[in-house]
Amino acid sequence: MVFGHMKMSLLLCILCVPSLYLLSRWTRGYPTYHRSNSSFTILLWHWPFNHPLSLKGDVCWDLYKIPHCMLVDQRSYFPSADVVVFHNRELIQGSQKLPIELQRPQGQRWAWMSLESLAHNGNLQKFANIFNMTISYRRDADVTIPYGELQPKKAGDHVVEESPANKTSLVCWVVSNYQNNHKRSQVYKALDALVPVKVYGRWANAPLSSTDLLPTISHCYFYLAFENSLAKDYITEKLWNNAYKSGAVPVVLGPPISDYKAVAPNHSFIHVDEFTSINEMGEFLQQLANDQKRYSEYFTWKQEWKVKIYNDWRERLCKICTQNSSLPQPKVYSDLQAWDNAKSSQS
Ligand SMILES: *[C@@H]1O[C@H](CO)[C@@H](O)[C@H](O)[C@H]1NC(C)=O
Ligand SMILES: *[C@@H]1O[C@H](CO)[C@@H](O)[C@H](O)[C@H]1NC(C)=O
Ligand SMILES: *[C@@H]1O[C@H](CO)[C@@H](O)[C@H](O)[C@H]1NC(C)=O
Ligand SMILES: *[C@@H]1O[C@H](CO)[C@@H](O)[C@H](O)[C@H]1NC(C)=O
Ligand SMILES: *[C@@H]1O[C@H](CO)[C@@H](O)[C@H](O)[C@H]1NC(C)=O
Repeated sequence: MVFGHMKMSLLLCILCVPSLYLLSRWTRGYPTYHRSNSSFTILLWHWPFNHPLSLKGDVCWDLYKIPHCMLVDQRSYFPSADVVVFHNRELIQGSQKLPIELQRPQGQRWAWMSLESLAHNGNLQKFANIFNMTISYRRDADVTIPYGELQPKKAGDHVVEESPANKTSLVCWVVSNYQNNHKRSQVYKALDALVPVKVYGRWANAPLSSTDLLPTISHCYFYLAFENSLAKDYITEKLWNNAYKSGAVPVVLGPPISDYKAVAPNHSFIHVDEFTSINEMGEFLQQLANDQKRYSEYFTWKQEWKVKIYNDWRERLCKICTQNSSLPQPKVYSDLQAWDNAKSSQS
């Protein structure tokens, strides 16, 4: 009887040790298996702006039809992650830390991610020799996640006729953070002295809700898509969403014309640098608004192109998988600050 009991316990133990082991890995959230044996695993170390989103199911496939791409935010995936992504803001503010004490698995890449311009990234000197890749709106980042991009129109795509009809204002601007020393404020003041500029936003005591934004701008011939920072490739939703989606012609102030030309449609915007003076620009805008034919030429591109806006962090992160094969490896950013400082492209 005693002997039998012992045999039984022995048998139980042989069975239970591996299953307990598996169970412990499971409950600790270890990846005991991949959803797909060839999945690329992206671990987001902390959520941008402390704002978590659901990663239930196969998010990259379910939402964006990107296959073999596992996006996770549980740190226990660290040993099997191909890429670990760190959003700059929280590191700079000190609310999150880099796990420099952890041994990186062979081939794992650490990615620095920021959609802010240089002026808002803080001091990156301390991040020398840590990161293997950059994720940014910049075209020369390892993974480029723009605020928006053009996509060719497909047959059957809904044709939106943003007809330049029902315009009641010549020039509109939406501004919340007005600062006298910004170049955009200087341009606005000079322009406003010449032609009527309708101003919305907190600064003008005329805030627009997100649902009112596009309908309001649609009544303007021109929309001042003036960036708050002038930095290489820094072209935000002010152009992609506010202007292109509303049907006002954007007057842009930001990086040089060549940066815009590289990503935006031909003859779809007016760059402040095209003019030798704000006087000249004011006259040009007035003449254009009075010439229906020439004005409507700024919308011709919509026959062939549509605008895709990126505003969900999950989609941005899933995009890493689509660019995996072109990622350099191995690579180390020995001076991230110098990379961030890079001047606007001359191309
Ligand atoms: C992945 O799994 C499928 C079937 O589930 C198998 O046919 C294939 O060979 C596997 N690929 C690798 C690289 O193991
Ligand atoms: C990602 O790219 C690397 C290098 O090009 C390659 O070795 C690896 O197999 C790729 N991984 C996946 C899951 O495609
Ligand atoms: C223009 O305004 C008129 C009257 O307010 C309205 O009936 C018409 O639908 C508007 N057209 C467009 C293209 O918005
Ligand atoms: C813009 O124009 C150039 C030359 O005029 C042409 O090569 C290019 O394909 C055009 N781009 C688009 C997006 O239409
Ligand atoms: C990533 O950077 C670390 C730290 O500099 C380096 O040791 C590692 O070899 C790099 N890995 C890859 C895949 O580039």
